[in-house]
Amino acid sequence: MSSPREGHKLLEVRDLRVHFPTEDGVVKAVDGSSFALDRGETLGVVGESGSGKSITFLTVMGLINRSSARISGSVLFEGEEIIDASAARLRDIRGKRIGMIFQDPMTSLHPMHRVGDQIAEVVLTHTGASKKEAARLAVESLAEVGMPSPETRARQYPHEFSGGMRQRAMIAMALVLKPSLLIADEPTTALDVTIQAQILELIDELKEKFNIGVVLVSHSLATIADVSQDVMVMYAGRPAELGARDQVFQDAQHPYTWGLLESVPRPDVRVERLIPIDGQPPSLITLPPGCAFSPRCRHVRPECTAAVPELRDRGSGHLDACIIEPDEKTRLREERLAALEAGA
Ligand SMILES: Nc1ncnc2c1ncn2[C@@H]1O[C@H](COP(=O)(O)OP(=O)(O)OP(=O)(O)O)[C@@H](O)[C@H]1O
Ligand SMILES: [Mg+2]
Repeated sequence: MSSPREGHKLLEVRDLRVHFPTEDGVVKAVDGSSFALDRGETLGVVGESGSGKSITFLTVMGLINRSSARISGSVLFEGEEIIDASAARLRDIRGKRIGMIFQDPMTSLHPMHRVGDQIAEVVLTHTGASKKEAARLAVESLAEVGMPSPETRARQYPHEFSGGMRQRAMIAMALVLKPSLLIADEPTTALDVTIQAQILELIDELKEKFNIGVVLVSHSLATIADVSQDVMVMYAGRPAELGARDQVFQDAQHPYTWGLLESVPRPDVRVERLIPIDGQPPSLITLPPGCAFSPRCRHVRPECTAAVPELRDRGSGHLDACIIEPDEKTRLREERLAALEAGA
């Protein structure tokens, strides 16, 4: 185990693979994923259902049962290799150094315990604080996430909260020990649209206030667009494209990203119609040869199926895993947009 170094990234993942042996074959849920994140940054992670988003970050948090999965690669958290850390070490890091929130707070909050007690429990588990101090920190954390009357709310049960308030309580629980990384997996999917925007804004504010790194996982590019500094587009367990938000939105390099952009309504994209991407995601047991997206790609050519394309840096940290040359992609993209605008 290496000790924390100066100048390291908050989170650096290299060539992560998570394979589940099953009766039908080996499910390659994550198959060669690399990315990094700094404090004060939000990494938006998007991709269709089954593309390995949740498994990637459950693995980062050490929550994948090792007896059910073959895990390889490197996960450096604050400079420390944690891919092979002990269960005890990972428990210590989770909650204290890495906070997490999920889609449905009702499944993460215990229905029979007071919200304040549940948040205080995190403090008691990870620190030597007294019960009184833990209770005080729980109320303070509820106040920080914008909970009105936090002292009263702390004494209530989850069912007395609205969906948005429950998600705020989950964020309060995730951040009560001031971790340096917050992993939010579809944190707003179960909420209605106005509440979604409020929760995303809250996460963004807390990121600034506490200088934390945030991973924001979503099905939709539109959801993460306004609050992500970096964007990773995942396909079949690997990044298809990775870069700064504007690089990915305004100069997308992977045909899969083009498809995603066409399937979300965005004022800065010229196409307003929603166009779903044709075809289905591949089987993760028998991936198509070469580029996993090639069977669905309208620009596929013979070379695409020859070898799995590497994630290549086109300059200034904008990476993509499509072998077509950038000039040609610009032409293809222009043609496609022109055709869509003409109503083809
Ligand atoms: N224990 C397991 N055994 C076998 N396959 C698994 C196991 N856990 C997950 N998978 C498979 O791994 C793939 C990736 O799952 P994951 O939950 O990461 O997708 P996701 O991108 O988060 O999807 P969603 O958007 O629906 O949440 C899926 O095909 C899933 O069926
Ligand atoms: Mg998921």
